[in-house]
Amino acid sequence: MAGRFYISTPIYYVNERPHIGHLYTTTVADVVARSRRLEGRDVFFLTGTDEHAAKVVDAARERSLSTREWADRNAAAFRETFAEFGIENDDFIRTSEPRHIHFVEQAISALERTGDVYLGKYEGWYDASQEEYVPESRAAEHDFRSPVTRKPLVRRSEDNYFFRLSAYAEPLLRHLAAHPDFVQPGARRNEVAARIEAGLEDVPISRTGGGDWGVRFPGNPDHLIYVWIDALLNYASAVDPEDRRAYWPADVHLIAKDILWFHAVIWPAMLLALQKTPTHSWLALPGMVYSHSFWISEGQKMSKSLGNFVDLDQLRRYRDRFGLDALRYFLVSQGPLGTNDSDFAEARFIEIYNSDLANVVGNALSRVANMTGRYLDGRFPTATEGGPLRGRVEASLRACAPGPLGLGRIACGMELVRHIDAHIETTQPFRLAKDANNQNAVAAILYECAETFRIASLHLWPVMPEKMEEVWRRFGLGAYRDALQQRAARFADWIAWGGIEAGMGLERGSALFPRFQEEPETGA
Ligand code: MSP
Repeated sequence: MAGRFYISTPIYYVNERPHIGHLYTTTVADVVARSRRLEGRDVFFLTGTDEHAAKVVDAARERSLSTREWADRNAAAFRETFAEFGIENDDFIRTSEPRHIHFVEQAISALERTGDVYLGKYEGWYDASQEEYVPESRAAEHDFRSPVTRKPLVRRSEDNYFFRLSAYAEPLLRHLAAHPDFVQPGARRNEVAARIEAGLEDVPISRTGGGDWGVRFPGNPDHLIYVWIDALLNYASAVDPEDRRAYWPADVHLIAKDILWFHAVIWPAMLLALQKTPTHSWLALPGMVYSHSFWISEGQKMSKSLGNFVDLDQLRRYRDRFGLDALRYFLVSQGPLGTNDSDFAEARFIEIYNSDLANVVGNALSRVANMTGRYLDGRFPTATEGGPLRGRVEASLRACAPGPLGLGRIACGMELVRHIDAHIETTQPFRLAKDANNQNAVAAILYECAETFRIASLHLWPVMPEKMEEVWRRFGLGAYRDALQQRAARFADWIAWGGIEAGMGLERGSALFPRFQEEPETGA
C-alpha cells in the first residue's frame, strides 16, 4: 500500500479572524486527508498561522495590544475554529514558535553559504509617509508622489539580502515539463510557466527599520527576514524532527490562486537551492501545488470595505441549521476547486441541501431502512451476489474519476445512491412484498440496495464523517470507525461487494438529513 501522505494548507495571517476562505481551504484539505487515511495511508495534515507580517503589528496597535497578544489570540481563534468545524489536522504550526524560527535561521544561513542568498542593494522610489517602496510604473503614474498622501517620493537605496531566483528559471521550467501535475489545475500551470519564461529576477528577502517583529537575519540582526520567505519554510520546519522527515516531500500544498506565485515559483526555487546545501539536501520538491479559486458572497466579491465576508458567525448559523456535514458537503461539492470562482448564496445552499442530501442520501437510506424493517424484521436473511444494481454499481466504480485530489469520489458516492432510488422504482419491492411468495425476491432487492448504500457511504465519509459514521452504526459496521482510529483502514477492500453479511441488520433511526423548509412567513 502506498505509504505516507503529506498535505498542507496555507498558514493564515493572524491580523484578522478566520472567515469562509480559510475554512474552505482547510476543509478541502481535511477531506483529502481523510480519504487518504481511509485508503490506509499514513497521513500528515498540516495547517497553522503566519504571524510575522507588518499587518499583524498594525492590527495589534489599532487595538492597543502587544503584537504577541494579538497574534496569540488570533492563532487560538484559528486553531479553535478548525476544531469546531471538524478539522482533524495532525499539527498546527505557528511561525512565532521557536521550532520554526530556528529552522528558518538554519536554512537561510545554509543558503548564504552556497551564495544563493547574498547581500545586495535595492534601489527604488520610497514613500516615506507610508514607509514603503512604490514600484517604478506606479510611481510614474502618480507623478512621483505618494499615491496615498501626495508627498514627493524620494529615490532611496538600501542594503538588502537577495535570493538568487534568477538562477532557477531553467531548472523550474524543466521540472514543470517533467512533472505535468506539479501545478494544478492545468490552466494555472500554464500561467506559471508563461511567467517564468518571461524571466525571473532575484528577489529581496530582508528588510531593515521595520521594528522587531520577525525572524532576524542570522549574523545581521538589523535585518528581518521577509515574511513570505519565513512563511514558506513552515512546510519544511514542521517535518524537520527526525521522526517526521519521512513525510517529506509534501504530496500536496493546497492553496488559492492569490498565492500561487509564491508556491509554484519562489518555494520550489528555494527548495532547489536548499538541496545544494550539505544540511538541507533532503528537501526534494513537493508532488503538487493545487491552487483553487475564490468564494464570492451572494454574487459579490468579499471585501473589508463591503463588509460582506461570510464570517464565522454566519458559518456557525449554517452549521446549526443544517449540520456540520451539510456545510462541509456544500463547501466541497460547490466550491471553487477549478479556475472559476463560486458564489456562496443562501438560496443555493438550501437548494443543494434539499436536492442532494435530503432527497437523495437521506431519502434512499430511509426507504431502504423502512422496508427492511417492515418486510425483513430489520435483518438481511441472506447476502446475495447481486444482480442488475450490483452491475451498475461496479460500472460506476470503474468509471469513477477521483481526480488529482481524490475528491471525485464524492460524486461517485452520490451516483451510487441515485442508483438505489432508481432500482427501487423499477423493482417495486413494496409491491412485491404484498405476496408472501416474493419474500426472497424482496430480501434480495433490499440487500442489494443496502450493500450499495454501504459502498456509497465509504465514498462519502471523507466529506460527511459524522453522518456516515451514524450510517455505519445503524448497519452494525462500527468496525470501520475503529479501524480508522487505529489507522488500519482499507478502502479498496471495504468497497468490494459483500460487506454486509447474512444476519446483519439496519436500524431505522431518524432522518439523516431532514428536508429543510423555510419558516413560513407569519402575519400578513
Ligand atoms: N499567510 C499567507 C500564506 C502563507 S503560506 C506559506 C496568506 N494568508 S491569508 O490569511 O491571506 O490566507 C490566504 C488563503 O486563504 C488563500 O490562499 C486561500 O487558501 C484562503 N482564502 C482567503 N480568501 C478566500 C476566498 N475568498 N475564497 C477561497 N479561499 C480564500 O496569504
